[in-house]
Amino acid sequence: MSVTAPHLLTSRLRLRPVSEEDAGFLFDLHRDEEVLRYWDSPPWRDRARADAFVERSHQMREEGTGVRLAVERNSDGATVGWCSVSRWNADFRSASLGYCYARAAWGRGYATEAASALVGWAFEELVLNRVQAETDTRNVASARVLEKLGFVREGTLREDCIVNGEVSDSWVYGLLRRDWRAGGPSAPLP
Ligand SMILES: CC(C)(COP(=O)(O)OP(=O)(O)OC[C@H]1O[C@@H](n2cnc3c(N)ncnc32)[C@H](O)[C@@H]1OP(=O)(O)O)[C@@H](O)C(=O)NCCC(=O)NCCS
Repeated sequence: MSVTAPHLLTSRLRLRPVSEEDAGFLFDLHRDEEVLRYWDSPPWRDRARADAFVERSHQMREEGTGVRLAVERNSDGATVGWCSVSRWNADFRSASLGYCYARAAWGRGYATEAASALVGWAFEELVLNRVQAETDTRNVASARVLEKLGFVREGTLREDCIVNGEVSDSWVYGLLRRDWRAGGPSAPLP
């Protein structure tokens, strides 16, 4: 069962399905070592990785496992990053949240604003009960984004990743539908 990727509008951002036209932006984003500092794989060196990422985004929709959305700034139309809901499990009514933004766009609340819209869409349209996210324990900014959205830190995955020989721990965060309804930034769900 495929899933229709949404177009979402927030006060400052527009979220739309990732497309082939994003490949250049995505390559620049994912080859930036600072951006990928806490990522679970090394920075890209080959432009083909960006094309594969776009192709995988299409596949996710077709398989019905999730959506990846490019995030544009309304004021100038610039693409600033992407966010995703992946690993959608319709039986468990669960999915995972992910995001990545260009350095120039950090610290303005964009990641939180976009994720809030996407998570709200996912709870409503995919009828989720739980959204999960994982982040490197050193990634303070990402943990803060999740906590601003109401995610609860549920535990530590010890030595979860080894990237370029460096062993790192991850935190697991979860946001339940009832908590989103109670305290989430969007309007209450029916
Ligand atoms: C993590 C990331 C998405 C945050 O994006 P962003 O648009 O800057 O996030 P926001 O502005 O919505 O929120 C960031 C919060 O972290 C805080 N923060 C950032 N760096 C921090 C630091 N070093 N120490 C403490 N707090 C920090 C900010 O102050 C802000 O919190 P506040 O609103 O309470 O002030 C962005 O840095 C990014 O794309 N990083 C690279 C990719 C990545 O790590 N993705 C997540 C993988 S799990």
